[in-house]
Amino acid sequence: MFIDLRQLAAATLALASLASAAPLEERGLFGSASSSFVAQRQFTIPSVSGDRFSYQVSDSYRISGSCKHDHLKVSSHSDKGKLSDPDSPWVIHRDLPTICPIGKYFFWFFDDSFAYKSDGTFVGAASNSVVVSRDSSNPASVEEISIEHDGTVVVAIPWTDEEKETQYDDDRYALWAFGPCVPIDDSHASQVWSIVKFANSSYSETVGYTVADYSISDGALEVTRREVTSMTTTTYPYGAFASLLVNNVVYMYALDSTYSDKYDVHLASVPRATIYDTSTWSYYDGGSDSWSSSPPDATKRNKDKAVFTGEMPFSTGSMFYSKYHNAYVLVFFTNWADSKFYAITSQSPAGPWNTTATFLYETEAGSNGYNYGGQAAPVVEDGTTIGKKIVVSYTYQDNDSNWYGKAETVEFE
Ligand SMILES: *[C@@H]1O[C@H](CO)[C@@H](O)[C@H](O)[C@H]1NC(C)=O
Ligand SMILES: *[C@@H]1O[C@H](CO)[C@@H](O)[C@H](O)[C@H]1NC(C)=O
Ligand SMILES: *[C@@H]1O[C@H](CO)[C@@H](O)[C@H](O)[C@H]1NC(C)=O
Repeated sequence: MFIDLRQLAAATLALASLASAAPLEERGLFGSASSSFVAQRQFTIPSVSGDRFSYQVSDSYRISGSCKHDHLKVSSHSDKGKLSDPDSPWVIHRDLPTICPIGKYFFWFFDDSFAYKSDGTFVGAASNSVVVSRDSSNPASVEEISIEHDGTVVVAIPWTDEEKETQYDDDRYALWAFGPCVPIDDSHASQVWSIVKFANSSYSETVGYTVADYSISDGALEVTRREVTSMTTTTYPYGAFASLLVNNVVYMYALDSTYSDKYDVHLASVPRATIYDTSTWSYYDGGSDSWSSSPPDATKRNKDKAVFTGEMPFSTGSMFYSKYHNAYVLVFFTNWADSKFYAITSQSPAGPWNTTATFLYETEAGSNGYNYGGQAAPVVEDGTTIGKKIVVSYTYQDNDSNWYGKAETVEFE
């Protein structure tokens, strides 16, 4: 991972002084009674009515029996089109729809988002945005939460004071996610976001990672950042690729893009309650099948310690427990410029993962010949077994070269 240490040190120092303490009751993955937060924001969300989503996590570390590989055949998929709000007056361009099911709600958090009038007049932009799906049968019909109908455009993941100062300058910050959130329970989820700092309008680098905790209650989504930087770039970006929650332990997966060219995935685990205390983190060593309190050296390729190495490179994906497949499943796109969904499986978070990928299906590519940012989440409807039906999403480029998210529903045989 390339990183200018002086810049990181300066940024960390400047940001550390802003970590003002304000008590907050326990909530979220990383919450504890004594936690403070550095940024927080609330959004109004529609009340739950009719058929909504539901999501389950596994409570057994090792799933007994074996994976039902024959269930990995896609029996049908239905293209639901652009993720858009039928009531929004704005044309919105954005990418990386990252999936986040929380209880009966289904959210997508996007990266850079731009709103225009239908005649092309610029309305507003934000480093990220969030929508909530209205309908489990048509998940692409969403309600805009952070780009409001009156033209108010705010970021979904709130800035710290330091970041906010520079939002529209050449040396601005960006908060971008590449992986999905980790759903925790019916009202909580958390997601790892990369903190990107621009040196000028054409050059940026990742200076660290931050966690956003999501909490829903009384018709509101609350987004909380408890620390400015939860991980630096000197360790693998655990949780930025994918995560699983099993028995109150969070398994956070990092893709080594820099030295393995997106083949190696590394794993760290930590009890949900103490995630902000890095002394409680463990790092998996795939070579010796053991956990250690010291992270592997992330400044070179460490294939021997990876939890798995793909037969093809990974770009984005989602990991979840599938009762229907009797396995933990990673559904993914293989390359950044790709349109094909594949899956690999394991009976436990640390594996052994069966890296022989099953091809699921190919989405119809956008005008530039590919889609990117593919993700998936299982949904339960009408008593179907968890994992039989999934919602997928990805970034699509239309014939006018505009980027947006699309969603499809997929059913397995
Ligand atoms: C690994 O996965 C592939 C693809 O689903 C499957 O054909 C194969 O039987 C699996 N191998 C084992 C040992 O389960
Ligand atoms: C942008 O910043 C980078 C890193 O500091 C530098 O190498 C590059 O020359 C700068 N580009 C411009 C156009 O200023
Ligand atoms: C986009 O362009 C392709 C190739 O010209 C065409 O087949 C397709 O119908 C177009 N799609 C839309 C939505 O206009």
